[in-house]
Amino acid sequence: MRNVVLIGFMGTGKTAVGKRLARLLGWEFIDTDAEIERLTGKSIARLFTEDGEIRFRSEENLLCRRLAGRERLVIATGGGMVLNPENVALLGQNGVFIKLYADPEVIISRLKGKRRERPLIGKGDLRERVLTLLKEREGAYDIAEFAVDTGKQSPEESAQIIYQYLKEKSYLDEDGQG
Ligand code: S3P
Repeated sequence: MRNVVLIGFMGTGKTAVGKRLARLLGWEFIDTDAEIERLTGKSIARLFTEDGEIRFRSEENLLCRRLAGRERLVIATGGGMVLNPENVALLGQNGVFIKLYADPEVIISRLKGKRRERPLIGKGDLRERVLTLLKEREGAYDIAEFAVDTGKQSPEESAQIIYQYLKEKSYLDEDGQG
């Protein structure tokens, strides 16, 4: 079985849903931001300020190379990961892309108080930053074959919806574990 790759903008619930989906599947959960923090020994915010976004994007790309060869992973990607077509090709070799999305107002309210961890929305007017980035990234997440609006239900329910989808598409073994 392949990996499940959750993609989408910041604050759409990739980590919260991913953890629950991994539990349902009995698979390993990987959060790419957390993994990069572990591998570099720096928080994402520090990585951006000390080494710059280019270094962060290169860490993302290196991680994609490592993950592409593995299986039975639920991967919660950082919101900018799939903006690089090479990352899409790598993760797509062995992965099913699922998009998470939510109304911009839901995203903005979820990101309040979490700005310090997210350098791209750290400064200026939050609403304006989020709306600008959403516009810049319009369509970027539409490579996914299935999409879930996470503003409509709990992370557990979103995970259940994805799990049902994977079963319907016969991506899982009969025991439902992939
Ligand atoms: C980013 C999203 C963040 C993190 C970094 C850059 C982006 O991840 O990777 O701050 O470019 O959208 P989340 O989507 O988990 O917030």
